Amino acid sequence: MTVVATRLQALRADITTLAVDAIVNAANSSLLGGGGVDGAIHRAAGPGLLAECRTLDGCPTGEARITGGHRLPAKYVIHAVGPIWQGGMRGEAALLAARYRHALELGAERSIRSIAFPGISTGIYGYPPDRAARVAVATVRDTLTRMPDMEQVLFCCFSDEDLLRYRILLAG
Ligand code: AR6
Repeated sequence: MTVVATRLQALRADITTLAVDAIVNAANSSLLGGGGVDGAIHRAAGPGLLAECRTLDGCPTGEARITGGHRLPAKYVIHAVGPIWQGGMRGEAALLAARYRHALELGAERSIRSIAFPGISTGIYGYPPDRAARVAVATVRDTLTRMPDMEQVLFCCFSDEDLLRYRILLAG
């Protein structure tokens, strides 16, 4: 039997402060920055991140892209474009799950062993945080069964409410 030494954890933090191999950015398809966590990551990483993003020519919905962390403590930034919430009947859950899965797969390709996720789509894109957290935890758990080398996945929460939500799900 393969021992999956993965640790799943939720914490409350500003994701730009985390010294993990990779942080995930809730980006838009231009990859040229925006508000929310995207804006915070670009501010903390400095202009080098934007310059590198410009060379990528955007990111089609459903895919993810990886860049260096520049001035961030994280070595890499994985940019994932989440779905915009449209009421839940437009395949949003499958689209959101795909973002978590692709980000982990891209990380695994680069031998990344620790990764932190924000609540993709739960800010400006309006995805209900409860539903998004359920999709995030279920998808990460499932994907990690195929990634024995991933040591740590952090769910980086920006509010106490979100932290409680993830802690309950992770305990279940
Ligand atoms: N650290 C951790 N989490 C954060 C931080 C931070 N520094 N800042 C915000 N959050 P959002 P989206 C949380 O709106 O909904 C941008 O303009 C926030 O509380 O950043 O996927 C992009 O360019 C929320 O729970 O991302 C896109 O256009 C979560 O991060 C669009 O917004 C995601 O909120 C993407 O919207």
